[in-house]
Amino acid sequence: MKYSVTLRVNGKEQKLNLDARATLLNALREILHLTGTKKGCDQGQCGSCTVLLNGKRVNSCLVLAVMADGKTVTTIEGVSSNGELHPLQQSFLSHDGLQCGYCTPGQIVSALGFLNEPWDKTPEAVQIGMSGNLCRCGAYPNIASAIEEIRSSIQEAASS
Ligand code: FES
Ligand code: FES
Repeated sequence: MKYSVTLRVNGKEQKLNLDARATLLNALREILHLTGTKKGCDQGQCGSCTVLLNGKRVNSCLVLAVMADGKTVTTIEGVSSNGELHPLQQSFLSHDGLQCGYCTPGQIVSALGFLNEPWDKTPEAVQIGMSGNLCRCGAYPNIASAIEEIRSSIQEAASS
């Protein structure tokens, strides 16, 4: 059975006609052709499919597209603006926070969600908060450094 679903993806309204079993990940990749969001495990274990749903990070392989009806979705394609990289993207480049790059979209979107979450953002918290995003290349130290640079700049700005 098909359902009509409206999503606001990266600021643009999208009306879709979907099988009730379609995941948000499949809707993004296969219908909207937003292939920056990666399919890794397809069972909620790797974080490569992370997107923001109404500003909160989710594993899009675990969300049915019909559950996202009426909600806003941010994918990696919506992170930069006007051709300018987001500071977090720039930080990943500066810190060499990637190797093959497969996990990188999920890492960056997850980090964006993490940086907006209301918990203590110490360097250790970055590691704990990002523990749902696996990197088979083992680029963890550089990924953590990239996120920590942005975390500490946010903290500095808040305290000045
Ligand atoms: S593909 Fe969704 S968590 Fe791995
Ligand atoms: S950079 Fe290759 S999986 Fe993370």
